[in-house]
Amino acid sequence: MPYIAQVEEMNKRFQAEKGYAPKYIILTYGCQMNEHDSETLAGMLEKMGYEKALAENEADLILLNTCCIREKAESKVLSHLGELRKLKKDKPWLIIGVCGCMTQQKDIVETIRHAASYVQLIFGTYNMHHLPEYLAQILSDDSNCYNIFAKEEEIVEGLPAKREYPFKALVNIIYGCNNFCTYCIVPYVRGRERSRSIANIVSEVEALVHDGVKEITLLGQNVNSYGKDLKDGTNFAKLIAEIEKVRGLKRVRYMTSHPKDFSDELIEVLKKSQKVPHYLHLPVQSGSSRILKRMNRGYSKEDYLELIRKIKEALPDIAITTDIIVGFPGETEEDFQETLDLVRKVEFDNAFSFVYSKRPGTPAAVMEDNVSAEEKKERLARLNALLAEFSHKKNQAYLGKTEEVLVEGLSKNNAETLMGRTKSNKTVIFSGDEALIGKFIPVKITEAQSWILKGEVAL
Ligand code: 5AD
Ligand code: SF4
Repeated sequence: MPYIAQVEEMNKRFQAEKGYAPKYIILTYGCQMNEHDSETLAGMLEKMGYEKALAENEADLILLNTCCIREKAESKVLSHLGELRKLKKDKPWLIIGVCGCMTQQKDIVETIRHAASYVQLIFGTYNMHHLPEYLAQILSDDSNCYNIFAKEEEIVEGLPAKREYPFKALVNIIYGCNNFCTYCIVPYVRGRERSRSIANIVSEVEALVHDGVKEITLLGQNVNSYGKDLKDGTNFAKLIAEIEKVRGLKRVRYMTSHPKDFSDELIEVLKKSQKVPHYLHLPVQSGSSRILKRMNRGYSKEDYLELIRKIKEALPDIAITTDIIVGFPGETEEDFQETLDLVRKVEFDNAFSFVYSKRPGTPAAVMEDNVSAEEKKERLARLNALLAEFSHKKNQAYLGKTEEVLVEGLSKNNAETLMGRTKSNKTVIFSGDEALIGKFIPVKITEAQSWILKGEVAL
């Protein structure tokens, strides 16, 4: 890639002049898809001679990889851009860039330019791989570079990635989404479904394992749609079965699943699997069939409950988590009660709950919304109380058991302790040597709180 070499050359000159290699920092908002994109952006930057900065005020390039799933995510980005004004003033050569989902929305470039005229670089989700070209331009003439592609292109394979963890990795299997749930902005900012070939995915997984990776998470907005666009009979169940065969790989996770596409064939593959933990994130969004219809989810409350029944029958020890939106336009107290009822019936291990946020350009944005903000907040509180009850109950069942835990690092709240995850994706905190990071170890659970488990190493 000539642009990579060009920027690398310019960065060498920077280093000769300033006495240090230029530093970058990427601030990532939103989901694992964005986290993975940030790893790719970091990989490209390091190829061009940038080094990772530990803090924003150390950086010569700051990239905000943004999210727009809810209004709050967007306002966070805009307010953070405001805070960066001073850094730019103190360091005139600092390049501030904005990329990711938010940039794909209509008029957003204008909004950003208006709110923060010192943002020099804006690019979208479809042209991320052009970053070297954009940097080459900015570094040669100090111009602004705003470049958003209106449509997705072919998948670009083989981009470098600077992974956050040496022992676990995120692997994209499908980009985009065709579902158009009426509340959701994703199909408009990530484009139509595009699956990678099984051959490309498997060879990436093999290379990761060769590099020391033990656990992978397969990523897609709807992993169950995997392969539909390839039109060669490939599907998610077959992909999992192929990935299972990669020697040296220990755990295979995946997210996110869509209830309407969760096949019996997949349940069979999961049942036989030695490497896919019995854990499933299956967003339900609402327990009211009427609201589910207005959301365009493609299943009813009964369909969801029947799917859960089948999955639990095949995998009795499975941990199930979900996403729920409260206060969708037109949601009545009765609809909300249906959601609480579904939560009671499924007994989720955990859930992400959100108040509906209006996204301009989506079909729900023009639906009449007569539920007050207060009512929505109050429903969220009631839902969360119920979710906490079940999470607490589910976690109690782990007391005294010894779980296989992948040690991920130091605990965020207490650097004296380690943090890891069980097969069922539960967070466990325990004391132990830092040398255990990256290893699978047995941990005996000694305390079960609503959201975390505590334990001791049982080696
Ligand atoms: N408002 C609130 N929550 C939303 N989600 C997606 N769009 C919206 C919205 N407009 C939630 C869904 C999805 C999760 C990633 O974010 O629950 O599963
Ligand atoms: Fe959004 Fe629905 Fe697609 Fe998920 S499946 S990304 S909620 S449109």
